[in-house]
Amino acid sequence: MAKRTIVTLPGDGIGKTVLEESLRVLTAAGFDADYVEGDIGWDFWCKEGNPLPERTLKLLEEHKIALFGAITSKPKDDAAAELAPELRDKGFVYSSPIVGLRQHFDLDICIRPCQSYKGNPLNFIRRGKGDSIEEPLIDVVIFRQNTEGLYGGVEWSDPPQQVYDALYTHPKFRQNFGSTPKNELAVSTRIFTKKYTGRILKAAFEHARKFGYKSVTLCEKPNVIRETSGMMLKMAKEMQKKEYPEIQLWNTNIDAQMMWLTKNPEDYGVIVAGNMFGDIASDGFAGLIGGLGFACSANLGEQVAVFEPTHGSAPKYADFDVSIVNPIAMIASACMMLDHIGEFEISKKIKNAIAEVIAEGKVKNYDMMKMTGNASVINEGAASTTQMTDAIIAKL
Ligand code: NAI
Ligand code: MG
Repeated sequence: MAKRTIVTLPGDGIGKTVLEESLRVLTAAGFDADYVEGDIGWDFWCKEGNPLPERTLKLLEEHKIALFGAITSKPKDDAAAELAPELRDKGFVYSSPIVGLRQHFDLDICIRPCQSYKGNPLNFIRRGKGDSIEEPLIDVVIFRQNTEGLYGGVEWSDPPQQVYDALYTHPKFRQNFGSTPKNELAVSTRIFTKKYTGRILKAAFEHARKFGYKSVTLCEKPNVIRETSGMMLKMAKEMQKKEYPEIQLWNTNIDAQMMWLTKNPEDYGVIVAGNMFGDIASDGFAGLIGGLGFACSANLGEQVAVFEPTHGSAPKYADFDVSIVNPIAMIASACMMLDHIGEFEISKKIKNAIAEVIAEGKVKNYDMMKMTGNASVINEGAASTTQMTDAIIAKL
């Protein structure tokens, strides 16, 4: 097979550090690829007024697969103040380049696995019968719709008159908001389409079938949000009945789900949700398996796929002489990339190496030692980012 080219998008802060570490692991594990680096993030906003330059989009159009570190986002006014002087007041407006990537390439399917590693000191524990303490092993994969719903960006403060008039035709609007002046209204829409709702449901069911999960749980709120969540539930029921009769369809409300995941997280397998509830559920489950140092993800579209840790650029840890952050979320995201392109053996080798290092418990980053992150954790026995990567490489 022809050698692959992978686009690397290090971005900002610790994104740069952990991405580099994941490439070391990929190479050590025998993954043979060329890497081309794409410009993305804060530096390019400041220098060019665009954190996601056109040339980076071109690179992705050409090579289709990217590993992404993390970017730094700042509020509108702060962003404007950091622009190069010659670019100020020229109409440049900052917007997050990872959100931009998802929208530009229609990366509508977000997959966030939350699987506990045996021996991880950050694993969720609970009280069992009597005085016993239980540590349920969690194996959940969240499928989050990545482009629509509450994050679709269709929103207004003091909505335009036509929008207001259209809303006014709805009896509930008249009843609940009709007496509020227009300029005191803020409206964020939650739009679901059949096409993309169908795609995320299908991806979830397919995953359950392929990896032998017994259930798919739709995590929404159809009893209250009747049109969007309601449509999703109806479509899920039809799809399950017609195409996936061997898989159970469970239906939980997002609020109840957040309670259940602290009671019986081991009962859940594949979870599927719209954009916002998928975001909430995935952070909730990530907390049970060790948090941001372990949370990996994939953003998949029809053409392009981008793999990234869920965490951001952690600016407060970005400039230490010796980096302290946990590289596992990024390395596990690289494994998701390998699985996506069919390099299952190399992926498995790396995942096993990560599991072995964690189970052995000799090399732990500061988060795994429950320390507060600062430069001195290294002197107190925490592994550096590089030492963790080295330990994983040594187990390959
Ligand atoms: P963050 O994820 O960067 O950091 C939050 C905290 O989580 C850190 O202070 C640290 O305690 C911990 N943490 C994060 N990654 C870790 C790792 N690999 N190992 C150990 N501990 C880790 O989120 P925060 O502080 O809210 O945002 C920082 C910047 O990152 C902001 O500019 C934000 O906009 C951006 N961001 C970017 C994302 C992306 O690129 N996809 C996602 C989330 C935030
Ligand atoms: Mg989030």
